[in-house]
Parts: sequence; C-alpha cells; structure tokens
Amino acid sequence: MDGQTLTAWNYHRATEHHRFRMAGHRLDWAAQPDVIKRYPGAETADLAPIRSLGTASLGDLLDSAKEQESPSQPDLNSLSNLLSMGSGITSVRRHGAGIYTFRSAASAGALYPVDIYVDARRVDGLPSGLYHHRIDGSFLERLKTNTDGGGQPSGPFAVVYLGGVFFRSVWKYRDRAYRYILNDTGHVAANILLAARLLGFHAKLEYDFDDEHVNGFLGLDSSMEVCLAKISVYTWNDAVSETHVSPDVWGMTCTMPRPDYGNGAGCDIPAAVYHIHRSGVIAGQKPPVSRAWGRTKPGRVKDEAISWPMGTAVPGGLSFSEALARRRSRRNFHVKPLENEKFFNFLSLVVKGVAFMETVSRVQNAFHLELLVQNTEGLESGQYRIDKGGHGLVCVDNGGKNALMAGACLDQRWLAHASVHVLMTADVRQAEKYQGPRAYRSIMMNAGFLGQIIYLAATSFDLGCCGIGAFFDGEAAMILDGGDDEVLLYLVASGHVRGPV
Ligand SMILES: Cc1cc2nc3c(=O)[nH]c(=O)nc-3n(C[C@H](O)[C@H](O)[C@H](O)COP(=O)(O)O)c2cc1C
Repeated sequence: MDGQTLTAWNYHRATEHHRFRMAGHRLDWAAQPDVIKRYPGAETADLAPIRSLGTASLGDLLDSAKEQESPSQPDLNSLSNLLSMGSGITSVRRHGAGIYTFRSAASAGALYPVDIYVDARRVDGLPSGLYHHRIDGSFLERLKTNTDGGGQPSGPFAVVYLGGVFFRSVWKYRDRAYRYILNDTGHVAANILLAARLLGFHAKLEYDFDDEHVNGFLGLDSSMEVCLAKISVYTWNDAVSETHVSPDVWGMTCTMPRPDYGNGAGCDIPAAVYHIHRSGVIAGQKPPVSRAWGRTKPGRVKDEAISWPMGTAVPGGLSFSEALARRRSRRNFHVKPLENEKFFNFLSLVVKGVAFMETVSRVQNAFHLELLVQNTEGLESGQYRIDKGGHGLVCVDNGGKNALMAGACLDQRWLAHASVHVLMTADVRQAEKYQGPRAYRSIMMNAGFLGQIIYLAATSFDLGCCGIGAFFDGEAAMILDGGDDEVLLYLVASGHVRGPV
C-alpha cells in the first residue's frame, strides 16, 4: 500500500478485508506483544483498594448529569476507582501453563494497546505530578514531579491521557490495526467517563489537542505510542477551563524514566498506520473547533416508526460496577427469543449512550446507528434505524439479515444466532471533507465508546455481547445498503447466550 497518499477515506478503503484477497498474515508467536509497559526504576505510588461503589445502574448514570448529593472527594481513593474502572483487571484465569487476565474494557484480539497516564494536579494523598498507570499491579509509576509543591489552583483536579501503543495491535492486524487502536481507546474512555459520573465528578473528553505538545509532555516517542484522548476530571466546585498542558508553567521536573515496552516492541509499524495518524496531527497551534456535520440519513422507510418510552428511566439491571466487573465477550448466542421489554430497555441505554457521548465530548456524533433484529418478541425481523430524535425505531428493510451479516463478518457463524446486531456506520469521506483527516479519530473512538456502553447495557440485562471489527467491508456495506460511501465502522452483537452471563 502506498502510505504517502492516504487520507482517512483512503486508509479506511485500503484496509478493507476482501473475501478472496485475504493476505493470510502468519502470527509470529516469538514476537507476541507484551501488553504491559513498564518504567524500570520509577518511583511508585500504590493505588488504594477499591471500595464499595453503590448501586447506581448504567441507566442511572446515563440519566444523571447533575451534581450528586454526596460526591466523592478528589483523593487517591477516587483516582484508584477511576483508573481501575477505566481499565482494570477484573478476572484472572489459569489455563494450562498460561495465565489470562480479563479487563473492564474490551479490546480487539485482547492486545490492549491503550496505556493510561494521569496528570494529578490536586489529588489528596498523591504528590502532584505525572504518573503512568500500572494495571498489572494496581500502582502508579511517577514520571514527573511538580516541584512547585502544589498543583494548579483551579481547573480539573486530574487529567487522564490515553496513549495508543502501535506495535501491540499491529502484530496481529497489520495495516488495519489503527482502526482497532482507536476503537479500543473509545472503550476505555467510556469506562472512565462513566466512572467519573458514578463518583460524582464531571469530566470532559477531548480528541483534539496539539499532538506534539501533549506527546512531549507525556514523554512519548510518537513512533511507538501516541496520545489519542484526553479526559479532564473536575469536582463540581472546579471551574471548567481549557486544560492545555503547560509543564514549564507549573514546574514539573522532567527527569522522565525510560519506558520498557517489553516483547514485540521492535515490530515494524506499517507506513499506512503512521500516515493515517500523522495526517491528522495538530502541532504548534490551537486545535480547530470541530465543525459538526449533519447525520440525518435519507430514510428508506418501510413502516411507521415504532415509538417507545425513551424519556423514562430504564428499570432494573445490575449496578454499573457489577456490570463492569462481569463484562466479557460472549459468543455462544442461542435461539431463545429476546423479550420485547428487554430489547427496548437495552435499546434505550444505547440511545442514551449516544447522548452521553455527545455531552461529554461536545462533539455531535458523526456515525449512524442501524440494527439488524431477529428472534425478538413483538418485532418483525429486519433492518432498523433509530430516528433522529432517538424516540422511534424505523424499519428500513424487512427480513432477517443477521445470518448474512455473520457471513460478512469473516464467517463468524455464531453471530447468526444473535438477536441484535448494532451497527455503527459513517460516511467517512463526508466527515473528512468537513473536519479533515483527524475526523477519523473521533469517529472510530466514538464507535468504540458506544461499543463499550453496548457491552455494559447487555451485561446489565443478562445478555451476551461481542464487538466485531473483523468483516469483509464491501459485503457488510452491501447488506446495509446505505449508499456508496457509507461504511461499517464497528458491529456489536447481543442476545441471549447459553450459561450464566
Ligand atoms: C474493536 C474490537 C473488535 C473486536 N472484534 C472481534 C471479532 O471480530 N471477533 C471476535 O470474536 N471478537 C472480537 N472482539 C472481542 C475481543 O476479542 C475481546 O474483547 C477480547 O478477547 C477480550 O475479551 P473480553 O472482551 O471477554 O474481555 C473485538 C473487540 C473489540 C474491542
């Protein structure tokens, strides 16, 4: 592939899977990537043990943007909860000689390309400075210290940065890896934003920032790892302000320890991955304000919209922290019909998830949501679209397409049995036209963001769920029939599964 001529649209097209043109890339097991980055010699700070986090459900969190009556304090306990909910180890299993860990966020191929950094500005119990989160041992590695003694007096009490490590996903997915790194980053971001809400903080998600400045501040070698998202966390008393990093202004010493990325770090990164990332880089200037572009899609409406009581609170379901702890990719879908009420409760959370995403990122969602539904009580099998107001479900094509879509998803046959396929699609060319190549980042990260909410919504209602990034792009687009430039970004399947969820 010619890495030099790629834009977002070209990158997406050039990394399509085609049934008869799969490269048959062999995995080099000796170079299997280490999923933990270490800073040998760095001073460490233990995170606090996780404390009980109440009974608020995902629905409660998506509904409540207001100040809580008894919010958490901006201290080490809260930061520990925020990080471990964002990307914590939720289960460890032994299988033969191997040990497998599961995390709170899904990740394509379990390659976990996202590392977390925290600029702790006013966190009680933690000297202010820049830290790297060590997920494997629940501690922080100190990268920089604020020699001023105190952190910045106003603004967020902590700023969380999500770094995407190229080689981990590239090892398996080659050119296509950038798609998954962005999706995975969105998954972790959603967890952190929801956790902030659970703790009674408010938080702001940003995808647009001066890349060079932020990567420099984090000490990242951008040929290995780049910052993709920034989350500023505030108490309700903190003034919401711009959070440009300014290490020189507030006196951080820059004695950064050197990172050790472990096995596989020498892997060649395809030119296409570098090029798509760099084509969106903003350097040395104030990031442009994203221009929103319309997301209304011409309807091919077959029937009247089916409305459902969207405004109301969604009843029942697990607590958010329990759903997070139990979230897994479950693929053993079976033919038990999906109850009508469960379907609409699930759907309500998905729609509320979109609104939440738009609120925290202040960017209008640029992808469309389609559903392939089958084996669901009270609903004809077919392709549905959620209407613009989010209050109605519109049938755009009759007949079950889930089995066809399973074929398009690299023949992952088990998908044929899932009652619902939630599909995120976008006109990437149009998005790029309005917002430039960087639009690709926000579209794909937002797809991952919503993907994580869909996982949690399914788990909350005892349903199985699995994200799907592997599909023959052209076949999937043909099934969806959304127009020449409308492409599938990400699919998340849900429905009843055998065994306990
Ligand atoms: C962006 C993305 C794409 C994925 N694509 C697939 C897929 O095509 N097929 C599949 O079986 N699982 C897929 N998964 C699920 C991952 O394999 C799964 O998240 C990972 O193995 C970790 O397991 P867990 O989700 O149970 O924690 C995908 C996950 C993500 C986040």
